[in-house]
Amino acid sequence: MNEGFRLLPEQASTMAGQVDMLYYFLIVVSIFFATLIYSLIYLFAVRYRRRSEDDVPKEIKGLLKLEIAWSIIPLILVMVVFVWGATLYFDSYTPPANAHEIYVVGKQWMWHIQHPSGQREINELHVPVGEPIKLTMATEDVIHSFYIPAFRIKKDVVPGRYSTMWFEATKPGEYHLFCAEYCGTKHSQMIGKVVVMEQADYQNWLSGGSAGESLDVIGEKKFKQFACHTCHKDKSDGRGPSLVGVFGESVRLQDGSSVIVDEDYIRESILTPNARMAEGYKPVMPTFKGQISEVGLLQITAYIKSLSNNGSK
Ligand code: CUA
Repeated sequence: MNEGFRLLPEQASTMAGQVDMLYYFLIVVSIFFATLIYSLIYLFAVRYRRRSEDDVPKEIKGLLKLEIAWSIIPLILVMVVFVWGATLYFDSYTPPANAHEIYVVGKQWMWHIQHPSGQREINELHVPVGEPIKLTMATEDVIHSFYIPAFRIKKDVVPGRYSTMWFEATKPGEYHLFCAEYCGTKHSQMIGKVVVMEQADYQNWLSGGSAGESLDVIGEKKFKQFACHTCHKDKSDGRGPSLVGVFGESVRLQDGSSVIVDEDYIRESILTPNARMAEGYKPVMPTFKGQISEVGLLQITAYIKSLSNNGSK
């Protein structure tokens, strides 16, 4: 990080090289056309300057070939940029199925990180090298933006929903972590670091010290604390649907449509239970808005997820 001047931050993720290639392509295309246009302006200004008082230029009617050329060439260029950019965009925001999941909650003015196995960190994110990591992110207050320049990824964390993104770090080291959305007085201090470790070191770090209980175990306690279990029982004879095995599955709704049970649907069902009700149940569930923090929601979600995959998190 302290190697003097560099044009771009270090490349430390699988995505970084590709993002930079696109960036360089844009710069090269821009420089090429800027140079071409400015050279021609000067060239023409000199070459076709008015040489005498009665110098009248010949009228030009237009040249179809030329007009087609200056329409088609830019069209091709912008389509290349569009397709290239869109492909990269979808790649960066579609985590691979085997990605290791880590939860991030932004708050004025810090980042809370939760590992499924129970580790919590503030303004630090420890990850193993060479493994895809999916971040599920929420905010307790205003919009923040989670930005790791060395990985070339950034995403706004917007109140009221989850944002996700993923990366795979390619070399061990420490990298900057920033909040990239102005979020109040101490926005500039909402910074931290990402520590990329070798697999073995990471396992050591995971098993070290302050692990505490895993996310789903805390979630289960919260589930009981808020008395969710009195209606959502293991079997389907409760007042609400059983939550065993529902995560990732499709559920039929009152209006006949269906929805895949994911983090967002669980979050919505806790905060605004009647928004998309499962078929066959009465709207008797109260809202828990204002009673559960974003961290609490993630914990309960982790618990509900654990009811679906027996240890294969
Ligand atoms: Cu959080 Cu700026």
